[in-house]
Amino acid sequence: MAGRIPQHFIDTLINQVDIVDVIDARVPLKKKGHEYTACCPFHNEKTPSFTVSQQKQFYHCFGCGAHGTAIGFLMEYENMEFVDAIEQLAADHHIDVPREDYQQEQGPDNTGVYKMLELAAEQYQQQLKQSQRAIEYLKKRGLSGEISKDYAIGYAPDSWDFIFNQGKSATEIKQLSTAGMLIEKNGSPGNYYDRFRDRIMFPIRDRRGRTIGFGGRILDQGEPKYLNSPETPVFHKGKELYGLFEAKKSVRNLDTIVIVEGYMDVVALAQHGIRYAVATLGTATTGEQIGLLLRSVKKLVFCYDGDRAGKKAAWKALENTLPLMRDGYEIRFLFLPDGEDPDTMIRQEGQQGFEQRLQNATPLSDFLIKNLEQQTDMSSMDGRAHFAEMARPLLNKLPESIFKDLLNESVSKEIGLHNKRLLEAAPVRTIRGNSIAESKGRHLRITNVRLAVGLMLQQPSLVQEIMLSDELRVTDIQGIAVMFELYDLIKASPELSSAAILERWREHEMGGYLNKLLHWHIPGVDDKETSLIMLQNAIEKLLQQVKDQRLEVLLHQSQHSDLNEQEMQELKQLMQRDNTVTDK
Ligand code: UTP
Ligand code: MN
Repeated sequence: MAGRIPQHFIDTLINQVDIVDVIDARVPLKKKGHEYTACCPFHNEKTPSFTVSQQKQFYHCFGCGAHGTAIGFLMEYENMEFVDAIEQLAADHHIDVPREDYQQEQGPDNTGVYKMLELAAEQYQQQLKQSQRAIEYLKKRGLSGEISKDYAIGYAPDSWDFIFNQGKSATEIKQLSTAGMLIEKNGSPGNYYDRFRDRIMFPIRDRRGRTIGFGGRILDQGEPKYLNSPETPVFHKGKELYGLFEAKKSVRNLDTIVIVEGYMDVVALAQHGIRYAVATLGTATTGEQIGLLLRSVKKLVFCYDGDRAGKKAAWKALENTLPLMRDGYEIRFLFLPDGEDPDTMIRQEGQQGFEQRLQNATPLSDFLIKNLEQQTDMSSMDGRAHFAEMARPLLNKLPESIFKDLLNESVSKEIGLHNKRLLEAAPVRTIRGNSIAESKGRHLRITNVRLAVGLMLQQPSLVQEIMLSDELRVTDIQGIAVMFELYDLIKASPELSSAAILERWREHEMGGYLNKLLHWHIPGVDDKETSLIMLQNAIEKLLQQVKDQRLEVLLHQSQHSDLNEQEMQELKQLMQRDNTVTDK
């Protein structure tokens, strides 16, 4: 098992490979001006809108919006995980991938625990073949042998020591216990009995296909209906999803994932041709799980009962999704009729009917607005104010994106704001005198922070020529934190290319925002000199903005209480500045 790949290696790798070679080897490119083009490999088209920039080391499709670095390309095109893409790139360039010290990084070695879980899964599968009762049960639920095999479904016999007896040594028994398969007898340490008895066993596998735990369903009536493995060193409920490995394995170019509540729902959907469903493990869907899914696909459909509990669970999922939203994601909610679950539904309606429902599922923005509206009386002023109060914190969870702008707009319209937004963007002051106009069609309002971030990203070498004052660092201007992260990073590592910088934000909620700024065609930028002037201007404006804010605070304070000597001095200075510098 390998340790982490050091960050500096990833930086170097991106700086060493040429994205043009990487893509050209897979999708032949044509040179056109400064860029290379081809018909986009990610959507169907007749005229090329897929472009590769050698200078930025980035690809971008104007048709479907696909974009990324060389690593991102491999991940998308070859359907690879991040680490595999790195290894592929390195191998193509005959470079060895170094690993950080694994023992230190990963803690104890769980190899034996995985081994025993695998053994248990195999044994349960064997047992299924020998239990007519278990086979009958699965048949009754409409499952074929093929699906049972794909999901490695098994049967835990009605025995207190079936799994216990698989442990051939004290070490193995300990490992079975660590794996959650055994329970220690009360008051009798070292004496164990099997956790799962007389149950249909659903192995839960991690992304690499290793069995990490089980869900076990009782065959007849009884409590609990489902018994799950406890949290163990290799199994963390909030981080795993049942069926994700199987979905990735059986669907090429997986683009949508349906999230359901039960094991049976996942396998029933698979049985009817929908092999892209996953289930949370008896808990609410966590942000971590959603993040995991969004690393594989851009489209998610959360599927719940139409009852109150279902709505509540869906709302929780919505709240956990908001911070992860990026442009290009499509998140929907499907509410099933009362008393139905995906298992019963698909048996009635078949694949086509269910997929129709998936297609018509409620978009996240509609669900958000409708759900808030139901909690208040939108015909009264008070009700609308309440709506606004509820919407504001939700909007604030969204990273900067076109999606956020649009949702902000829709929400504002709901409460009768037409020219104003519920959430005001940071004070906008475009640079006058310079030829910067709002760049239409790209939905980016120009703010000084965006301008600074965009310029630093597009031309990292500019950063060596500027200094950001710490006065700015402590302000709460929107976007300032990421601006400083970027600044500090480039100052410390001047050799990083735009693409290498962006890779640092791959898993980060700001990644989409930064990517957009990297591709923003900033009007008026043509050479390094004008870019530098623009960057300096933007920073100067930001400083003025900070001073304005401080001035307002001091002026306000002076109306209500006395300022101390130092504050008086500061106020004087700020007011003098106001006379000479700003253009109010
Ligand atoms: P449901 O009770 O909705 O069961 O639980 P189901 O999926 O429809 O199962 P069938 O069709 O009766 O076989 C949904 C999920 O909640 C968790 C399990 O993950 C289950 O798949 N659960 C439920 C438990 O963990 N324990 C339980 O006792 C019940
Ligand atoms: Mn069910």
